[in-house]
Amino acid sequence: MDVIGIIGVAAGSVAIPLAAVSTSTSVVGISQGVSAQQKGAGAGAGAGDAAEADKADPRLAKFNLIAQCSPQPSAGSSALKLVNGKIVVLRKGRLFLDAADPDYRIFSDGHPFSGFYLDYPAGKKPMGLVSTISRDPPELNWIYADDDTLELKYGNKTASVNHIHGPWDWTPDQRGLTLEEWEGFVALEESPGVWGLYYDQDDDHLSTSGIAGNRRVVECSLQRRLE
Ligand SMILES: *[C@@H]1O[C@H](CO)[C@@H](O)[C@H](O)[C@H]1NC(C)=O
Repeated sequence: MDVIGIIGVAAGSVAIPLAAVSTSTSVVGISQGVSAQQKGAGAGAGAGDAAEADKADPRLAKFNLIAQCSPQPSAGSSALKLVNGKIVVLRKGRLFLDAADPDYRIFSDGHPFSGFYLDYPAGKKPMGLVSTISRDPPELNWIYADDDTLELKYGNKTASVNHIHGPWDWTPDQRGLTLEEWEGFVALEESPGVWGLYYDQDDDHLSTSGIAGNRRVVECSLQRRLE
């Protein structure tokens, strides 16, 4: 199913429109198709076998992300309470933290991260990360860190290709998300209650880059919770 969407992903085209069926079904469809295409199954080999193999590939399992933040003297314990246990949401091109319980969300337009790993279709083809960007239509975008602002963002290939778009991976226990082989993520309090996610590329809480300024920064592990 959904071969056009699949070729779109593999060719690195834009936001990937999925069939208007349930999100999980269509994402499975895309994943299967990508793999089938990579294995040349489209050329007559058993596409069914490829689909079976995909179901077993843990990289294609869909997951949400939850912030697990450790106490840090610099940010204070009150900051920790504000971010720990929050989920990652997508809105306005960027990733933020918000309450897991929809009744307590600060953003009405946040879409909870729901994604999986997929080879990035450019350069050395590092492991990429995609997420749906809305419930309807269920469309996928690449997740990346902006090379200038270090903000975690989502966008199409054009938007992400000149930024840090991988390799994404997981920690040895498969629970924590990593970028460039470490869990270098921080939440920055941009205004009261608004915590944006950043890649702490210099491992200094965004200080030498000047991004943090006087604002509070908390180191967080982004934990994968399988859907
Ligand atoms: C890709 O995203 C950018 C915004 O980041 C947008 O301007 C552009 O039109 C998109 N490309 C396509 C082909 O949709």
